[in-house]
Amino acid sequence: MITLQPGDIDVGGVTLRNHLLLAAGVLGTTGASLQRLLKLGAGGVVTKSIGPEPNAGHHGPCLIRTECGVLNAMGLPNPSKNFVEELAPLEGEPVIVSIFGKDPEEFKEVAGWFAEHAKAFELNVSCPHAAGYGAAIGTDPETVLECTRAVASYGVPVWVKLTPNVTDITTIGLAAEKGGASAIVAINTVRGMRISTAMRRPVLGNRTGGLSGKAIFPIAVKCVWDLYAACTIPVIGCGGVSTAEDVIEMMMAGAQAVEIGTAVMDDVRVFDGIAQKLYAKDGADPASIVGVAHD
Ligand SMILES: Cc1cc2nc3c(=O)[nH]c(=O)nc-3n(C[C@H](O)[C@H](O)[C@H](O)COP(=O)(O)O)c2cc1C
Repeated sequence: MITLQPGDIDVGGVTLRNHLLLAAGVLGTTGASLQRLLKLGAGGVVTKSIGPEPNAGHHGPCLIRTECGVLNAMGLPNPSKNFVEELAPLEGEPVIVSIFGKDPEEFKEVAGWFAEHAKAFELNVSCPHAAGYGAAIGTDPETVLECTRAVASYGVPVWVKLTPNVTDITTIGLAAEKGGASAIVAINTVRGMRISTAMRRPVLGNRTGGLSGKAIFPIAVKCVWDLYAACTIPVIGCGGVSTAEDVIEMMMAGAQAVEIGTAVMDDVRVFDGIAQKLYAKDGADPASIVGVAHD
């Protein structure tokens, strides 16, 4: 397997300790858990998505295992502005704050609480199970452009996380780029549902949810591939990454770094496990790998 030179990397305006970030919403719900994952080898961490009002999320079941992944409909539970306190002990660490709102004004309001603490913002315009938020607004290029522009006005780098549930993801990526994004993250979960044949009703409390984990890896690779070809800002791959091979494949499709979610739920030591196989002193220059499959 190809190995990479270890060391800090600069992606989308942020210096990361390696190519592996914790994805939003998975274990990153408190300052202590974010700190723990940095200690366990994450090169950077993305927080749970924070919105304009405290929210308990959808009623359960909110998360079920499927054959090759996880189906969730958490409904964006979050403590809203109170989360600012959680970040105080993480000053100086590579923390990316994920935020959501229903329009540019709400995005700007939430970003304002964190502008002093975040190394970057990640805009959640892609969650598939929150009425009026996430993918409900992230399928419209004009809204994505305006939300990005509103948050970029703070002068903090803005990453925009996209939904795969669109006909052409590049139109949304280009809108983010035009709005002043420093990077695009692809992808959030893929819409899905299961039905209990015994109960004759949907399994999830919210009926439908988003699929993550190994099952969506090929979808994520294709989205990264398309965005790399269409956009000039860096692409960060997310979706089903669980091995060092997956990281290399994502990078060859065009990703400059990757985010890992579901695999962390399976094994909290996954960052270190991947890093052991991914990095070697005589490894390749990472920049020589990014997008190489397009040549
Ligand atoms: C339990 C759970 C909660 C999530 N919460 C969020 C969230 O708050 N914000 C967000 O942008 N994505 C959220 N996601 C999506 C992940 O960040 C990621 O985009 C997705 O799971 C695909 O990556 P993976 O296959 O490595 O998990 C969540 C995913 C899961 C499984």
